Amino acid sequence: MTEVDELRESALKEIKNTKDLNDLQRVRSEYLGRKGKVTFLLKKIREIPPEERKEFGRKVNQLKEEVEELIKEREKELKEREIEEELEKEWEDLTIPPFRPVGSLHPITLTLRRILRIFTAMGFTVREGPEVELESYNFDMLNIPPDHPAREMQDTFYINKEGYLLRTHTSPVQIRTMLEEKPPIQMVAPGKVYRRDDDPTHSPMFHQVEGLVVSEDASFPQMKYTIETFLKEFFQQDLPVRLRTSYFPFTEPSAEVDIGCVICGQKGCRVCKETGWLEVMGCGMVHPQVLENCGIDSDLYQGFAFGMGVERLAMLYYRIDNIKIFYENDLRFLRQF
Ligand code: DAH
Repeated sequence: MTEVDELRESALKEIKNTKDLNDLQRVRSEYLGRKGKVTFLLKKIREIPPEERKEFGRKVNQLKEEVEELIKEREKELKEREIEEELEKEWEDLTIPPFRPVGSLHPITLTLRRILRIFTAMGFTVREGPEVELESYNFDMLNIPPDHPAREMQDTFYINKEGYLLRTHTSPVQIRTMLEEKPPIQMVAPGKVYRRDDDPTHSPMFHQVEGLVVSEDASFPQMKYTIETFLKEFFQQDLPVRLRTSYFPFTEPSAEVDIGCVICGQKGCRVCKETGWLEVMGCGMVHPQVLENCGIDSDLYQGFAFGMGVERLAMLYYRIDNIKIFYENDLRFLRQF
């Protein structure tokens, strides 16, 4: 009788611990097979003295039924588990796009994004304006008089709609912003601009980023600090930066911003034309007339503005000496970014 109880214990344990259907098959023949342990006990019934035989026989048969039942249950469990595992393995995420994008971002896009990231971190918002622009926003409102050289046909692409042109700079976004928003204003405007210009460092289409700050206390030192901070961050080095007096109709005073040549470290090279300095943007205090043109009281508010060429900055940063390479879409070039 203890043998039956012990066998029962070990069978329960083994069935419970089976890993898979194969394993269960092994346990089944171990207990119920022709030479199995339970079968062995069944055969032994005959040898038991008659007075105990009935009780023993009942117990062994009960054990056999119990083991069969447990194996059946376990089989069902293992089958279900196998199906689940199969499903898990075969599961496909149908929301994954069928083709992985194999492209990369264009160096101009990368440069634009880097410029905007630096300015937005300094609290600037991003503004955009149309490439087909009103002649008055591109010129008149910016204090560029009709006889200004920038208006001559060789610089500007006019379109055959009276009063419109392809913007020659991003400065008209200053006008659009000041007409729509009240100060304080602190914005940058990236975008494409167009000029009738074509040589190794000039392209008829290129990109600029414009900056405009208008507030009660915007000042020249603030402008210098903002531009210097940007340039050091952009070129990732503590560059020498200098402002040189210049002229733009829409700023007064105006300045040109130079950085120490990043190619030769100011020793003098072909890129800086042996001067050690590179011109990277224009800037100045917004001309009071421009503020007034936009309905901003120039007695209460002051502004500073700046404008830079994105290709120029990208060429210096990546050390590229021909602007055309940006537009040829030569994969041997593009893959390097
Ligand atoms: N718009 C000028 C250009 O295209 C660049 C520029 C100069 C923009 C001075 C400015 C500025 O905002 O203040 O050459």
